[in-house]
Amino acid sequence: MLVHKTKILLTGHAGQIGYELMRVLPLLGSVTGIDKEEVDMASPDSILRIMREVKPDVVVNTAGYTSVDRAESEENTANQINGVAPGVIAEELKKNGGLMVHFSTDFAYDGTKGAPYHESDLFNPLSVYGKSKIMGDIAITATGVKHLIFRTSWVYGARGRNFLLTMLDMCKNTSEMRILNDQLGAPTWCRFLAEGVGLILSQKEAYDPSFSGFYNMSCGGSCTWYEFAVAIAKYYESNFGKRITIYPVSTGEYPMKALRPKYSLLDNHKLNSAFGVIMPDWNTSFKLLMQDMGFKEPKGIGVFPNKRKKTIKKG
Ligand SMILES: NC(=O)c1ccc[n+]([C@@H]2O[C@H](COP(=O)([O-])OP(=O)(O)OC[C@H]3O[C@@H](n4cnc5c(N)ncnc54)[C@H](OP(=O)(O)O)[C@@H]3O)[C@@H](O)[C@H]2O)c1
Repeated sequence: MLVHKTKILLTGHAGQIGYELMRVLPLLGSVTGIDKEEVDMASPDSILRIMREVKPDVVVNTAGYTSVDRAESEENTANQINGVAPGVIAEELKKNGGLMVHFSTDFAYDGTKGAPYHESDLFNPLSVYGKSKIMGDIAITATGVKHLIFRTSWVYGARGRNFLLTMLDMCKNTSEMRILNDQLGAPTWCRFLAEGVGLILSQKEAYDPSFSGFYNMSCGGSCTWYEFAVAIAKYYESNFGKRITIYPVSTGEYPMKALRPKYSLLDNHKLNSAFGVIMPDWNTSFKLLMQDMGFKEPKGIGVFPNKRKKTIKKG
């Protein structure tokens, strides 16, 4: 019996989420992985060329302009890649009834809600990056293509550019650092995002237009960047025997080019009730990743912060 093989086009396969998806999606169909070298997402013509060549049933779009601070001075490029490209893909995909899978961000919000964000909450991005991502979300939905847009947060993993790898580098090169302690979020291991997407795409509901929409998809629990840094440093200290001192600082003491929400926890209930996917707590996934990277678990550290009450004072 000949079984139709779903044709999947994965953009950004060399990025954090794309790398992991490249190791999950082949279970579901034939995958064409592309990145900057093959197709420039800033060029609609080259996007259309690959779309017409591959004729995908599903596009998983992880390509993105993800340098949040640099975007403040490169608004056009950020808008082109994050805002325009997703719409170009969606428009073309709609012609043959394909499914578009895309990733959006917690930076869609201004962080003033004081409780975990739902998919129906109004967005109000504080940065050029956040605005460019919302532009992309709107461009996709406006085409009427079947779509699953997963909104996630604080993505990290063993490869690419992320907070964990920056911290490990800093632990190696210095013994003191100052890290922000007034932004609360949920670090999300890119492997669980990829595996979650794989589980979802193996369900027929994923291809049912009535399931099209936004789904929050971030790890559970919460921490500040400072608390995340302390957890990383504990691993470094106990594995390399070097003492690291980390000072908590406020955003005001450590200004960055782009404004970020002070609170960006996402409520994952919709994801769970639609597809049965449960995202693990950030500390559980963090420990698994550190194990994968060859780190031994420090003794006596217990559980990293994740039992915080999920509300903060407004203002
Ligand atoms: N990282 C986060 O914390 C986070 C949080 C929420 C949502 N997201 C969203 O999730 C998606 C994937 O994130 P990620 O962390 O996996 O990002 P990533 O590691 O930066 O990967 C993005 C990939 O897109 C490629 N790319 C950039 N510009 C391109 C262009 N003009 N043409 C073709 N490819 C291009 C990048 O190549 P280069 O590396 O060579 O530039 C990279 O391989 C993005 O849409 C992002 O906005 C990320």
